[in-house]
Amino acid sequence: MSTNINNDNLPSPQELEALANQLFKAGPGGFLSELPSQKGADIFSIAPDISLFNTSAPVNAPAQQAPPSTIGGGGISPSAVNQGNAVNLQDPQTSFADPNLSSQSPSLSPATGYSQPAFGGQLPVQLNGDYESYLKKTDLIPDVLLRQNFGVEQLSAAPQDLFHLPYQQDQHFDTELKKVLEQISTSAPGSSGIFNGAPTTTAVPFYFLNDTHGLPAVKADKAQPSKAGISGIITPPFDVNIIRRDFPILQEQVNGKQLVWLDNAATTQKPKQVIDRISYFYKHENSNIHRAAHELAARATDAYEGARKKVQQFLNAGSINEIIFVRGATEAINLVAKSWGDQNLNAGDEIIVSHLEHHANIVPWQQLAAKKSLKIKVIPVDDDGQVLIDEYVKLLGPRTKLVSFTQVSNALGTVTPAAQIVQLAHLAGAKVLVDGAQSVSHMPVDVRALDADWFVFSGHKVFGPTGIGVLYGKEYLLNETQPWQGGGNMIKDVTFEHTQYHDAPGRFEAGTGNIADAVGLGAAIDYVTRLGMPLIAQYEHYLLVYATQLLKEVKGIRLIGTAPEKASVLSFVLDGYKTEDVGAALNQQGIAVRSGHHCAQPILRRFGVESTVRPSLAFYNTCAEIDLLVNTLHSLKR
Ligand code: ALA
Repeated sequence: MSTNINNDNLPSPQELEALANQLFKAGPGGFLSELPSQKGADIFSIAPDISLFNTSAPVNAPAQQAPPSTIGGGGISPSAVNQGNAVNLQDPQTSFADPNLSSQSPSLSPATGYSQPAFGGQLPVQLNGDYESYLKKTDLIPDVLLRQNFGVEQLSAAPQDLFHLPYQQDQHFDTELKKVLEQISTSAPGSSGIFNGAPTTTAVPFYFLNDTHGLPAVKADKAQPSKAGISGIITPPFDVNIIRRDFPILQEQVNGKQLVWLDNAATTQKPKQVIDRISYFYKHENSNIHRAAHELAARATDAYEGARKKVQQFLNAGSINEIIFVRGATEAINLVAKSWGDQNLNAGDEIIVSHLEHHANIVPWQQLAAKKSLKIKVIPVDDDGQVLIDEYVKLLGPRTKLVSFTQVSNALGTVTPAAQIVQLAHLAGAKVLVDGAQSVSHMPVDVRALDADWFVFSGHKVFGPTGIGVLYGKEYLLNETQPWQGGGNMIKDVTFEHTQYHDAPGRFEAGTGNIADAVGLGAAIDYVTRLGMPLIAQYEHYLLVYATQLLKEVKGIRLIGTAPEKASVLSFVLDGYKTEDVGAALNQQGIAVRSGHHCAQPILRRFGVESTVRPSLAFYNTCAEIDLLVNTLHSLKR
């Protein structure tokens, strides 16, 4: 067995093998006691620059050089996929296939999020510096075998199987959640005040299962909780303990305690897949994009444009030209305000926002309104924090030129009826911007179903790096809009008299962008797509219901934001305590929450407070962490 995989400081094959064996031995029933390599095929026979699966050349033969990608034209290089290197994974010379493992797994379409073909399929491999082939050399074993043995790809493809993951380590979750949900289900209608208008009989509402928000519908008959549901065994849709291992920072100690990260609305933690991807970029691909006539420019361009493609698929945008990389959601909103808004809005025109908005979706419009004598109108919310659609309809009129609102409130967690708001705005002839900063990490988003004219989000809120975000815009609209920044990269031709701009996305990406972090964002999107956004939404919904039910038992607590349709956020104040003191007490236990105004002062003031304590959940959080949060609050009150 070769012990050398390039000179990348990668773990040795022995280390990988030991780790994989450790993992598989921990599996239920010891489904695989040894790596298949020990049954014959030598899976690590990789010489430098050799594709693991290249059958077009003998194993250990020198690698083919990938041709440099398009140079200087700003296009996407064709070198990302080298079809000539497709190989058969079942070839005993090149495969580590366990003969006992089925080779019948169907290949999944890109829509399922699995870019790699099913085990036994044809694998196009790019040599020499391509991250996908690097991954295949290092991560293939657990990935393929996880999919084979845990049935992950079937889960992703078939929602009806969501409740039957064969590997559930966190049985604790089932028992506790079942108990809590049973209590909720027997509550008198409206009795809690927390689930106002929500579960009163046998079902917990799953906002992501109805199709009123422009989300792709999951067939209710296949994934209703009744199937797995309240009277049956509730199982988490994935194993959170396995997932947590991907997030190194979750092992961090804070004040002598294990970190409990409940500040996900502020930023999310990064899986090692994202950290490694960025590191790989700087080790093997770093270059400016598009312009230079050399191999690394080609690699960087491939990686950057590949990330754009991932974002397009993630949002279900119609074209990669609709995806603009920016610094974050704030910059994206400012871009629209300072380009389209400045060019198209005139004195007396009206902009509608909701009372829920983050400052980032208020201040740019105020600045524009001051400059151009526009009027800003605000959709009110009810006492649970739900937007009042009837009041919204009254605000719409012939002067309404723009409606800009959030899909999920960062301060309250309210999920707004986004598709309905968009549709009503369009009927009034207005354009619509949807702030997805708090939604993309918690639920599937489909910009075409939503029909938003613009949709914005930040990479760091969806397990990607800081300093990178996305503006989605309808292509015709982007190309009708003059760019707000000028410089290199965004032009077709420049003379001292005149400049011709590229079409989108180039026209809005002046200068050198955040290339590495765009690539990191692509890796984050791969990660959540592999887990499956519907599963993430489902698991987090369980957690939210669990946490809400326990929190309301804390003496003196007032939950701020009690809409039946919520995501992630649990804002509250505690009688007799300043919010910063609660935050500090939680910090002593290693629990990170945000306390403050959350950059959303208007909505907090609507509820008569200047600040709240705001735990916010992600898919790597557990019931045990919520127990710790709630117990700490109980002990404060004692
Ligand atoms: N918008 C981020 C938050 O809600 C910073 O905390």
